[in-house]
Amino acid sequence: MWEYTDKVKDHFFNPHNVGEVENPDGIGEVGSLACGDALKLTFKLDKNGIIADAKFKTFGCASAIATSSVLTDMIKGLTLEEAAKITNRDIADYLGGLPEQKMHCSVMGREALEAAIENYRSGGKKKHELEGRVVCTCFGVTENEIERVIRENNLTTVEQVTNYCKAGGGCGGCRGEIEKIIENIQGEKAGRIIETAPRWAVRLTNIQKIQLIQQTINEQIRPALRAHGGDIELIDVEGNKVIVAFRGMCAQCKLTEFTMKDVVEAKLREFVSDELFVEEDKDSTQEPHNHRE
Ligand code: FES
Repeated sequence: MWEYTDKVKDHFFNPHNVGEVENPDGIGEVGSLACGDALKLTFKLDKNGIIADAKFKTFGCASAIATSSVLTDMIKGLTLEEAAKITNRDIADYLGGLPEQKMHCSVMGREALEAAIENYRSGGKKKHELEGRVVCTCFGVTENEIERVIRENNLTTVEQVTNYCKAGGGCGGCRGEIEKIIENIQGEKAGRIIETAPRWAVRLTNIQKIQLIQQTINEQIRPALRAHGGDIELIDVEGNKVIVAFRGMCAQCKLTEFTMKDVVEAKLREFVSDELFVEEDKDSTQEPHNHRE
């Protein structure tokens, strides 16, 4: 027995807006009886382009009826632009949540709404079509739809994908492919995290750390010092200790202590690791060095 919220039960026992709008402006039909769920959504706009009426007919379980019912309530009074922003998560949230295994009903609602809006925008010509390669032939679910439910709902397992769009819930022949789609999306996300995370948040090898320190000196610190006739050289890196030598004007400047802490150390902490500290190599000559062995 599924655990349903009171709102789901209420919409199931007393569904709102059942039927079809007369002379509808938009019609969205999704799902199929063969797959166990089908939904037809119709709406009519008023003269200002606001959804004045919306009705549904559905074939499916209690969740399918409740999500369709609540969706028609949600879209009344909205413009098409506003309605188009409704996600399956919004529909489920409006009901106070759905059992995980029934989330595909909220996805079906969102698909029907999109299909109806598209139908209106195409002047009544366009009907819902599968877009992209079909991955799950048992339920006719395409790669595009699988990718979308994964992204929009942060799904990480094949079981979750099955709960959200049914793919993988029949013969199981597509489960390997769904797994690969999940891996690809997770790989993309991991790549984005590394790109956008502060550099200190990324675990670095010693070699990567030294390269990043050198790069930060070259790009973030050296130009400012050179603008004032000075320069800086990386002498060595020992654990979190970065040893540098100042050159040119900086070598004679009384403010090197300030430059070292407030400029060099601050930049290295910002761009490489907040555990770094900087020391000046006082013995260093003015000649360029190689790193110490
Ligand atoms: S092909 Fe997807 S479950 Fe059968």
